[in-house]
Amino acid sequence: MRKIVIAGNWKMFKTQREASEFLQKFMPELENTPEEREVLLCAPFTALGILSKSLHNSRVQLGAQNVHWEDEGAYTGEISGSMLTEVGVRYVIVGHSERRQYFGETDETVNQRLLAAQRHSLTPILCVGETKQQRDAGDTELLITTQLKKDLVEVDQQNLVIAYEPIWAIGTGDTCEATEANRVIGLIRSQLKVPDVPIQYGGSVKPNNIDEIMAQPEIDGALVGGASLEPASFARIVNYQ
Ligand code: 13P
Repeated sequence: MRKIVIAGNWKMFKTQREASEFLQKFMPELENTPEEREVLLCAPFTALGILSKSLHNSRVQLGAQNVHWEDEGAYTGEISGSMLTEVGVRYVIVGHSERRQYFGETDETVNQRLLAAQRHSLTPILCVGETKQQRDAGDTELLITTQLKKDLVEVDQQNLVIAYEPIWAIGTGDTCEATEANRVIGLIRSQLKVPDVPIQYGGSVKPNNIDEIMAQPEIDGALVGGASLEPASFARIVNYQ
């Protein structure tokens, strides 16, 4: 059985106070959430400490949004694996398209970060996905296959989550058709050595499309941006039918 992983990616949103307020409304909504669904919040670094305390012994896991490839060193503005595990982080997003697009992340640095995450017993969530231009040119399959090949060099696929996030669907309200997301995720799975790696869909996941997305046989969860910022909306997603 493949694991179901529903993750909120808060990006650069929420102060500590806002994070605490979110939990007060969100946690009571999880009373009837099926046990086997892994629920996690990938928060900004500054909110991790306070979330970790509040989430201790709860069913919600904590995730970060980046990790450096070295264990320590002169890397201003970066964060190490042990800094994350010390505050109770279990998952880390690696290679998000916003990191690739705005901060010069390459397949080589993504690969280094994946290896570092695993060295620290964090489960990385590797993001892959094509731009609109690449899709229109018919390059989706080639792009994704190439990303996977380069990003996963020597990565242990037993401790990995992958998120298929078509860039044109992120923050646009323009969700990828569920059946098309299912097709691409099937393609991703066919490239893996370990077939039960959980593969999420991400890109304008909302309360009104999550049921259809999760009904697809290849899709094992969601990586949710905007709709994870509001407790009721993320709770509806986590409690998909
Ligand atoms: P949205 O859900 O806001 O489209 O963001 C998706 C995303 O980038 C999650 O990592």
